[in-house]
Amino acid sequence: MSLAFPVPVRPAIVAPPMVEETLSADERVALKSRIKTLMQQQDAVLVAHYYTHADLQDLAEETGGCVSDSLEMARFAHAHPARTLIVAGVKFMGETSKILNPEKRVLMPDLAADCSLDLACPADAFTAFCDAHPDRLSVVYANTSAAVKARADWVVTSGIAVKIVKYLHSQGHKLLWAPDRHLGDYVQRVTGADMLLWQGSCVVHEAFKAEALKKLRAEHPGAAVLVHPESPEAVIAQADVVGSTTQLIHAVHDLPNREFIVATDNGIFHKMRAAAPGKILLEAPTAGEGATCQSCAHCPWMAMNGLKNLARVLETGANEIHIEASIRAKARLSIQRMLDFAIAEKAGRIQLGD
Ligand code: 13P
Ligand code: SF4
Repeated sequence: MSLAFPVPVRPAIVAPPMVEETLSADERVALKSRIKTLMQQQDAVLVAHYYTHADLQDLAEETGGCVSDSLEMARFAHAHPARTLIVAGVKFMGETSKILNPEKRVLMPDLAADCSLDLACPADAFTAFCDAHPDRLSVVYANTSAAVKARADWVVTSGIAVKIVKYLHSQGHKLLWAPDRHLGDYVQRVTGADMLLWQGSCVVHEAFKAEALKKLRAEHPGAAVLVHPESPEAVIAQADVVGSTTQLIHAVHDLPNREFIVATDNGIFHKMRAAAPGKILLEAPTAGEGATCQSCAHCPWMAMNGLKNLARVLETGANEIHIEASIRAKARLSIQRMLDFAIAEKAGRIQLGD
């Protein structure tokens, strides 16, 4: 794969230290009750990602919100009538909600909750990348800033990336892909599309270790291996199922295996346990020879979301997402393409071929 200038070579992103909220049982109960009252008063709904703390996932479900992957979070926020959306996740998820719902107030518990993929792909460098390859359509992962989405032709999430790239490839398009090199590589292998890849990576998924995974599989020969495609190729190669967070939860429920080895953020175990009680869930190893994990199977940015800062934003109105109108309008087009594609594909109006 040729990587022509100006693709940055493996941008080095350092994750922040892991600081997760710890609360007593009494504090938890009091905060949840206060948040529920504030949400009702402010016509607010909570949309949480599977990697956030179990308290936030439970609260979202108890209050009529949703816990989901990044594609479904965007869809849910768009369809829901509430005037305030609270997005518990990382910044790009809040921005996507605001892009799709400009008339709504979008709040996040912590605006510093970023993502190593977003950070690795600054809009000016991405624009230069696109300008250097005008013959290619640009496809970006949802884990990017609003400004990068505004420059892109298509936005995809891990749940739909393969289908969209397969479709674009079948239409004869050559592609630029950003920012996750592992997901891009995976999509390229599955679809055979001609793709130039940005070199970003996820600090959580990149830390999964193939050799240690082999050993763990040998110790648990009946276990199915579930892998998020932001993981390295040698880890994906050992997977029984490769998919988005939602697809991996469905696999735990649907497959007959009793044991599962899971290569994604361990926040997902909360929902997996609820979906398939009694099944045994093992974390894919991040340690082992050559381990350098900054995050050890939990995203330090997702961990910035907690009940305390959620209550605070509702009390103060702080941490509202604002996006400049021209960027928002352009980013909306590339996100809308993905949402329209998802509807058309589900309705059987798009032929993907083999
Ligand atoms: P999903 O789209 O599968 O939820 O993934 C988002 C993400 O950030 C994974 O690390
Ligand atoms: Fe970004 Fe990785 Fe965290 Fe997902 S898990 S938000 S890709 S850093």
